[in-house]
Amino acid sequence: MKITSSKFIISKPHWKECPAPNFPEYAFIGRSNVGKSSLINTLCEKKGLAKTSSTPGKTQLINHFLINEKWYLCDLPGYGYAKVSKKSREEWSKMIKGYILNRKNLLNTFVLIDSRLKPQKIDIDFMIFLGENGVPFSIIFTKTDKLKQKELSLNVKTYEKELYKYWEELPPYFITSSEKKLGKEKILDYIENINPLFKK
Ligand code: GTP
Ligand code: MG
Repeated sequence: MKITSSKFIISKPHWKECPAPNFPEYAFIGRSNVGKSSLINTLCEKKGLAKTSSTPGKTQLINHFLINEKWYLCDLPGYGYAKVSKKSREEWSKMIKGYILNRKNLLNTFVLIDSRLKPQKIDIDFMIFLGENGVPFSIIFTKTDKLKQKELSLNVKTYEKELYKYWEELPPYFITSSEKKLGKEKILDYIENINPLFKK
């Protein structure tokens, strides 16, 4: 699939205020700074569509982008940023979990994982939360330009091993780099195949 149009629609703190759920939707979630907003810009080939920053905690609200006038991409605030108060963390949890559990048109959640790191408890816990609630998800490894091919393969294998502790079957995963524009076609083809499953 080619993206021919992409536009920012709205930023909201609560799922009830998000656009009417009348198109298929895909959410990007993961730790602060993992590269969610950058990857949305890479997919849409539009710098600055989603706001990015080298400082974690840039995205604060639920952001909707309408793609090809037919489906939504949703950029979410990241979790796990150390310098966040307990209160903000609880608010994040309420906002994100409320969105994920109630958003009727959400067909798939992409959990973004920094390919450079060993499996992190916070990401695994989040995937367990999705699994327990029957929320379909897939994994996107980010920032792979920062690794040598060998290190990347090793890290992906280590991740798979960790996931097999919790699941018998693993979700699909994608290898990406926003820097090198890698992985874009596979993600868009995946979305294109899921879109027809949407029922209003
Ligand atoms: P929050 O909104 O804070 O949750 O972060 P985010 O996950 O949206 O991350 P964002 O896209 O803002 O990127 C964070 C930093 O990582 C920025 O400095 C990006 O330039 C950098 N970055 C993102 N993707 C890549 C990538 O594929 N490769 C490299 N080398 N840097 C990347
Ligand atoms: Mg962001």
